[in-house]
Amino acid sequence: MIVLGIESSCDETGVALVESTGTGVPVLRAHALHSQVDMHQAYGGVVPELASRDHIRRVLPLAEDVLARAGCTLGEVDVVAYTRGPGLAGALLVGAGVACALGAALRKPVLGVHHLEGHLLSPFLSSDPPQFPFIALLVSGGHTQLMQVEGVGDYRMLGETIDDAAGEAFDKSAKLLGLGYPGGPALSRLAEQGDPAAFRLPRPLLHSGDLDFSFAGLKTAVLTQVNKLADALQARRADLAASTEAAIVEVLVKKSLAALDRSGLQRIVVAGGVGANRRLRAQLDAACAKRGLRVHYPELSLCTDNGAMIALAAAMRLQAGVQQARASYAFDVKPR
Ligand code: KG4
Ligand code: ZN
Repeated sequence: MIVLGIESSCDETGVALVESTGTGVPVLRAHALHSQVDMHQAYGGVVPELASRDHIRRVLPLAEDVLARAGCTLGEVDVVAYTRGPGLAGALLVGAGVACALGAALRKPVLGVHHLEGHLLSPFLSSDPPQFPFIALLVSGGHTQLMQVEGVGDYRMLGETIDDAAGEAFDKSAKLLGLGYPGGPALSRLAEQGDPAAFRLPRPLLHSGDLDFSFAGLKTAVLTQVNKLADALQARRADLAASTEAAIVEVLVKKSLAALDRSGLQRIVVAGGVGANRRLRAQLDAACAKRGLRVHYPELSLCTDNGAMIALAAAMRLQAGVQQARASYAFDVKPR
């Protein structure tokens, strides 16, 4: 079974072909990605209307590219999958519209995928895939969640952010430090030259006893420091970046360990854009190694949004029998 997957929930257009043989992890045949980062940079953030228009321009050429590289024709595609949500409504509609039009034209069934399930399952495409059950730490621009994952489609939420997401905390702090968009990678790069202990920033909900997160207060603390430093900010920017990153990472690592402890599970999967963060990876690896626990990540190139994770999630859902593709082509999207 060959699944063509389309991702268009935000500012990356992703298309991929995944092949499943009925057993084992489906194989990635090819994937292609176009990032709109350069286009949105001038505005300091994603402009939804521009994002939608660019998805329209990119999606079919990317699909042609993927098919050519996989040595596959459109006629060989068995299922067309797309991101149904969450994300920007207009951007989602482009991927859903194209997927359903392709399905109708090819007389092949279509399947809408939850974007976060794509992130969550993406480590299965790595050279060191996890085994069920595991804890998942989902850390993206819009979400911060800890889940207990028993199998495909069997997810239990253990905790989540009550305000900003971890990626949002990175992005908003980066903006306060005068760094460009997207802020997470920029802040992380600057942090490498700074002292993570230079500023004592809050670790919200660290000792709350539950597995929820809160990052809004951290952003306020960064703003207070920025205002206090005033003209001295430039000289201390790397230190403040490093201290901000350290605060976010400490909370993510401690809560992840607490989730592992409580569940008695031995494995954790980290997915979503913030999963690319080097400090998070180093600290979680060290803490888990000490306790004999395993950590799994997606390949670095599949940490942020991509089509491969959408095609994979669709293939795994179909293979596990938790969902059926449908041969009706009316579509809607779920932005929230
Ligand atoms: O998963 P993703 O690509 O999109 C969403 O579904 O939100 O995640 C994007 C988020 C952004 O907030 C971005 O700043 C953050 O992931 N991010 C990082 C890094 N790379 C991406 N945050 C910290 N360190 C990084 N290296
Ligand atoms: Zn995402």
